[in-house]
Amino acid sequence: MRDKINIRQEGNSDINSIRYVTEAAFKNAEHSSHTEHWIVDALRRNNQLSISLVAELDGNIVGHVAISPVSMSAGADDWYGLGPISILPEHQGKGIGSELVREALSELKVRHAQGCVVLGDPNYYGRFGFKVHEGLFYPGVPPEYFQALSFQGRIPIGEVSYHDSFHATE
Ligand SMILES: CC(C)(COP(=O)(O)OP(=O)(O)OC[C@H]1O[C@@H](n2cnc3c(N)ncnc32)[C@H](O)[C@@H]1OP(=O)(O)O)[C@@H](O)C(=O)NCCC(=O)NCCS
Repeated sequence: MRDKINIRQEGNSDINSIRYVTEAAFKNAEHSSHTEHWIVDALRRNNQLSISLVAELDGNIVGHVAISPVSMSAGADDWYGLGPISILPEHQGKGIGSELVREALSELKVRHAQGCVVLGDPNYYGRFGFKVHEGLFYPGVPPEYFQALSFQGRIPIGEVSYHDSFHATE
């Protein structure tokens, strides 16, 4: 049994810890550009960090999730992308990532978002309701790795793009 995790919005004094957690989480990750910590910084700098939640354990930040707006070629508004999501390696597999995802999705619903997409392992994200939807795609990745969850029942078709911050290299 682990201690209770506190999930809360990021504050100004959390920025260095978030960078550290993100870099450490992805260091040995199978699918990683190793730029995820820069992506989070760039999203914040460009006012694209719609939701940024930290998971705190005993006052230390051990996890983080970012949510940012995505563009749909079909023109649908109010769609978001989940990620990067990061849990410090020594705290992975204890349910902290799941708590962060659930909290971020419920915050999106409160904001009346249309839905959320995610690029990642289908075995992991399927448990939150994400599914592959034929016709909604992200170029360059196997289709099963790109999933969407609609809060309003409609899934747009076409191509999804993330903000340019996802190309950040420093
Ligand atoms: C992926 C990640 C956010 C999951 O958070 P977590 O707190 O470790 O996961 P949870 O404890 O909530 O969930 C555990 C489940 O996720 C699975 N899981 C853990 N890491 C996973 C990963 N990288 N890919 C797929 N599944 C993963 C576990 O096998 C476990 O499955 P089970 O419940 O069927 O046994 C975290 O492991 C992480 O930071 N990994 C490195 C960075 C990364 O890969 N981020 C996601 C990129 S899409």
